[in-house]
Amino acid sequence: MTAVLTLTRAELARRVAESLIGDSGNRWRHTAGVAERAAELADRLGLDPDVLVAAAWLHDIGYAAPIALTGFHPLDGAVHLSAEGWPARIAGLVAYHSGARFVAAARGLATEMAAFPDERTLTADALTYADQTVGPTGLRVDTETRYEEMLLRQGPCSWNARVGADRRPYLRAAAARVEHSLKAL
Ligand SMILES: [Fe+2]
Repeated sequence: MTAVLTLTRAELARRVAESLIGDSGNRWRHTAGVAERAAELADRLGLDPDVLVAAAWLHDIGYAAPIALTGFHPLDGAVHLSAEGWPARIAGLVAYHSGARFVAAARGLATEMAAFPDERTLTADALTYADQTVGPTGLRVDTETRYEEMLLRQGPCSWNARVGADRRPYLRAAAARVEHSLKAL
């Protein structure tokens, strides 16, 4: 008799991510850390793990060389997910995670990004918060340490540095909304 295995969307997302970036060392460790953080946040905030945790596993798959079309990983990940039949909501969360819209606009990719829903919800904030509280090697960090480390690693001419005047306040506001929701429990 063949066992029927029913995967949750989050587990399916983990498998897809592993197939694309499972051998990427620190990037995979970061992804696993973000997914773990997202699972905690989903549990504490009453958010759907099949949306939040699935998006967390998938948020950086756009770095995988076979699907890197534009070189902007949030968009490339979203395009891939959409082509593979993932729900528009998951693709949208990936497309817009961690203030990606600011970099997309600066890089002239706003039209491509507009194909995906840009939800402004606690789920979207929680994904960004999870990404911004797990460092590049998977260790937990606070949001300010994460941002400063990113600037140092990517350099003053990076896209993230160039849009920092808009993106940093956005990241701080998203973190504040999540922390406020956690305190209100
Ligand atoms: Fe990330």
